Amino acid sequence: MKPVDKLGAALLAMESALIDLRYGAWIGGTPRPKPDSHVAVGAYSFTNTSYRVLEAIFRGRLHADDVLVDVGSGRGRVLNHWLHTGHRGPIHGLELDTRYAGQCARRLRRFSNVQVRTGDAIANLPPETTLCFLFNPFDRANMLRFREAVLGTISDLYRLRVVYYAPTCLDVWSDDLRWDVAIHRLDLWSVRHQPERYRTYAVITCRNPTAPDRRECAPDGGGITSG
Ligand SMILES: C[S@@+](CC[C@H](N)C(=O)[O-])C[C@H]1O[C@@H](n2cnc3c(N)ncnc32)[C@H](O)[C@@H]1O
Repeated sequence: MKPVDKLGAALLAMESALIDLRYGAWIGGTPRPKPDSHVAVGAYSFTNTSYRVLEAIFRGRLHADDVLVDVGSGRGRVLNHWLHTGHRGPIHGLELDTRYAGQCARRLRRFSNVQVRTGDAIANLPPETTLCFLFNPFDRANMLRFREAVLGTISDLYRLRVVYYAPTCLDVWSDDLRWDVAIHRLDLWSVRHQPERYRTYAVITCRNPTAPDRRECAPDGGGITSG
């Protein structure tokens, strides 16, 4: 790594630590030993989204009356970011791993608008959700289950936005006529050397919940815009 990159990475780590500390504790890194493994149920392992990425994704996208849900909330970086934006409406963190969920719930207990729930996020989606964030939490089988749970649970499907960062199974949504998928690229110094998917996120909205669930012609993959 070039000295300038090392310096940049150190400054970013410091910036993240300072934001973390405002919300009760430093939550960078991945604790060892790793907490309960849920690989058998298709869960991917924990990594934080960086604050710079969250800032780029959510700038101009949050509304005061949004009900925000982080699907697989891990140690709570996304919940911190939403609080940091000044959001005062409901914020839900849904996390399979008991250790992460427990620590996060304790750390953020002073915020009455934050709820952290342990268990399968797909079974625990709040019906009033208006925006879901996913940082590549699980495999295709779970994504299919999640997609159907959204259709069966969310009360206002036309208002819902699903923000899917670093996607690995976006075709679950883009191959389905019920959804519109807009793919965005992150133009950020901090992720410029990372694999393509870490520079990509999709915003998924419901086009028509009763449309046939498979495209009959080749998918177009949704519009591509930069962001
Ligand atoms: C890549 S981490 C993202 C953490 C956090 N959302 C962030 O962006 O900083 C994905 C998290 O999803 C959790 N997860 C995977 N499958 C899940 C499920 N079915 N229900 C709830 N959490 C799940 C994992 O335990 C992990 O903590």
